[in-house]
Amino acid sequence: MATFLKADKAKELADIAKRIASPGKGILAADESTGTIKKRFDNIKVENTEANRAAYRNLLFQTTDLGRYISGAILFEETLFQRNAQGTAMTELLHAEGIIPGIKVDKGLVTIGGTDDEKATQGLDGLAQRCSEYYNAGARFAKWRAVLSIDQANGKPSMLAINTAADALSKYAVICQENGLVPIVEPEILSDGSHGIEVCARVTEKVLATLFKSMSDHGVLLEGALLKPNMVTPGVDCPQKEDAATIAFFTVRTLRRTVPPALPGVVFLSGGQSEEEASVNLNAMNAMQPHPWILSFSYGRALQASCLKAWAGKTENESAAKKVLLARAEANSMAQLGKYLGGGSDLAASVSLFERKYVY
Ligand code: 13P
Repeated sequence: MATFLKADKAKELADIAKRIASPGKGILAADESTGTIKKRFDNIKVENTEANRAAYRNLLFQTTDLGRYISGAILFEETLFQRNAQGTAMTELLHAEGIIPGIKVDKGLVTIGGTDDEKATQGLDGLAQRCSEYYNAGARFAKWRAVLSIDQANGKPSMLAINTAADALSKYAVICQENGLVPIVEPEILSDGSHGIEVCARVTEKVLATLFKSMSDHGVLLEGALLKPNMVTPGVDCPQKEDAATIAFFTVRTLRRTVPPALPGVVFLSGGQSEEEASVNLNAMNAMQPHPWILSFSYGRALQASCLKAWAGKTENESAAKKVLLARAEANSMAQLGKYLGGGSDLAASVSLFERKYVY
């Protein structure tokens, strides 16, 4: 089914998708829900208040030159309508750096009845109305996260869970496009488990093939959409570790088999990799150029972990924290270009950021 979008709307979407997925740039995922940011703040002993959340996001978005490496920032709904202590809108801070504001629009996960705790994502009811409000507030792209788990012994992910995820992602994508937002479709396969890399490759291939068939059936305009997948890696409990070249090989092979060249960009999630791993793995993929799509990043944990630690909720640490954020953003920008040489020995950046059964 072809898209029913008018030509000028389609062009606006395609232009935004291209601006987000442009060489040397990627996305800062700062859309942690109030519950998830609490976990981050607990680690650095900061109270999870509205004022502290505003102070932290203000720090991120006021990092001078961030826009050299970051093209878009995904926000939680509160942040899209939030102002800093001086009364400046967060969206204005982003605009000042040339960063496009985006919005997380899903409403989290529920168990699919009759399955062994497989998940569906909620949030389609009233989504068109919300998207039009988000557009008016300055958002130009959106994110919806579907979650799948690998557990071969128990038949996971089931075809039911894969189809459920693909169908909701496609419906969300069409609603976004009709309301002027570029949809990022995120079918995250968690890295929990002891499976090897070839199992992850097989499952990721099945999930992406199902997703793109479904998006075609629903008439999603591929030129005006972005994909946010997991990299193809072994499960975190797999004894066999793999190097960046192997992860890059399997990830790129999987994308080549399933993702149409009409899609302008693939922006990976970091999924619990350390900051350094996430940069090195992205670099290895871009060292294999040419690719028909821009391969870039949409990292949450892998852009913010060291920055949060450096900040620790203290005003006097703000400039040090901004420096760390800028360094990670620059590293990933270089990785997008296939020119990242590695940061080597920085201990904090090498710490695993994995959380079991991750909810966002
Ligand atoms: P991570 O990079 O921390 O996996 O998160 C990105 C994200 O936006 C998850 O939906």
